[in-house]
Amino acid sequence: MAGGGVVVQGGAKNYEGGVTSFVLVTCLVAAMGGLLFGYDLGISGGVTSMDQFLKDFFPKVYRKQLNKGHESAYCKFDSQLLTLFTSSLYLAALVASFFASVVTRMYGRKMSMTVGGISFLIGAIINGAAVNIAMLIIGRLMLGVGVGFANQVVPVYLSEMAPAKVRGALNIGFQMAITIGILIANLVNYGTAKISGGWGWRVSLALAAVPAILMTVGSFFLPDTPNSILERGHVDEAKKMLQKIRGTPNVDEEFQDLYDASEAAKQVHHPWTNILRGRYRPQLTMCTLIPFFQQFTGINVIMFYAPVLFKTIGFGAEASLMSAVITGVVNVVATLVSVFSVDKFGRRILFLEGGVQMFICQCLVGIMLALKFGLRGEGTLTKFDADFVLFLICAYVAAFAWSWGPLGWLVPSEVCALEIRSAGQAINVSTNMIFTFVVGQVFLSMLCHFKFGLFFFFAGFVAVMTVFVFYMVPETRNVPIEEMNRMWKAHWFWGKYIPDEAVIGSSNEIQPNKTA
Ligand code: BGC
Repeated sequence: MAGGGVVVQGGAKNYEGGVTSFVLVTCLVAAMGGLLFGYDLGISGGVTSMDQFLKDFFPKVYRKQLNKGHESAYCKFDSQLLTLFTSSLYLAALVASFFASVVTRMYGRKMSMTVGGISFLIGAIINGAAVNIAMLIIGRLMLGVGVGFANQVVPVYLSEMAPAKVRGALNIGFQMAITIGILIANLVNYGTAKISGGWGWRVSLALAAVPAILMTVGSFFLPDTPNSILERGHVDEAKKMLQKIRGTPNVDEEFQDLYDASEAAKQVHHPWTNILRGRYRPQLTMCTLIPFFQQFTGINVIMFYAPVLFKTIGFGAEASLMSAVITGVVNVVATLVSVFSVDKFGRRILFLEGGVQMFICQCLVGIMLALKFGLRGEGTLTKFDADFVLFLICAYVAAFAWSWGPLGWLVPSEVCALEIRSAGQAINVSTNMIFTFVVGQVFLSMLCHFKFGLFFFFAGFVAVMTVFVFYMVPETRNVPIEEMNRMWKAHWFWGKYIPDEAVIGSSNEIQPNKTA
């Protein structure tokens, strides 16, 4: 094939076959990975705001936050060790995602899910039983390995299982699961904080074992995707699988395209060297910048530290955990908006509207805190002020949840053709993890030093990313994965990177099964 590139013919295709119950069930199990990720994202903030947990593991922070009046409100929780408890997970996820990309390519999507599920389980057990900081951190590292595997494989799995016309909506199932996981974590924390013996935090941490078991067991029964079966050379089996998941024997056209893409992929043995080639510059840029920007919306300031943040600005312990539940609900509901609109209205409009809304909310929160707490971090919020801040934070979370939240995973995973997909996804996940780690690790100390300015800092990033989307991110709605080159070729800036032969190739003949 010309240039070893992906063969694409015609415009966007409408292959036969819709969403079968088979697809739905497999996606449900796969989405467990998202649930686990969400649970881990949401659980640590509430736990770190619980008195008994702080007394047991971080007595200095505990004393500091009690010591009202002597400490600027902005600095109450400023401790690198405390933030390491939250952020260490993402460091482990970062390293694991590179191994995950090899496992996903060589042993299939299913194997990566099994490995992810088992590490989650081990992490949950160690954390629930922790008696010292070392156990806490080791447990978080094991959870991180699980996150690295799950986040690498689940979005790819969902994209490959879903028919093109609902790919966006199904892929957002992953994000949906993340937000449900966060909400469950918020609710669990709200409940366990009331356990009188002070061991509620153990329950919070250990409960991650439940979805971990579901994902591990589920992964034994999941089928692999046709793309992955083809990638490993089983042609007949791959076609049968495609017929099964599409619920129709008439899959010749779609299968031919998959086959062509897979043949092209075989000619390129090094996805890592490939993705660095000029013609993949748009994909490389998307897989790096989109996750970077997603984290610099500042969302995890809220997801990790909402209870701590609410406590910082004077909410009581219970009100803080309740507020986290409220933002959690908003997060889930707003993600639903995305599920229903992403394939109808497209990705760009959601990105742009979400960006503007987040920008406004962040600036207003910054102004409120500046007016009420000033630079010295002393002051209080009236009931009205507190409600208004909570409202702004909810509006901000909603905007993220229908834009950068889901699209931060969807767009990078759908723009990469098979020959660079595993590398692209690994770059996406690891960039996401690096900056999740960075924001998680430095937020409390940034809050202490930047004070209300922190909200303007993130607002600045949101402005930049919104302009970036406007000029640089083409609409990927309804473009089958194997046909993305045509879209890049048509773009005012990216077009020059795409060689002509990448968009006017011819099909390969399908060879009979080579391995069976
Ligand atoms: C992000 C997470 C974030 C979550 C919030 C995800 O898409 O990757 O970092 O915590 O959305 O819902």
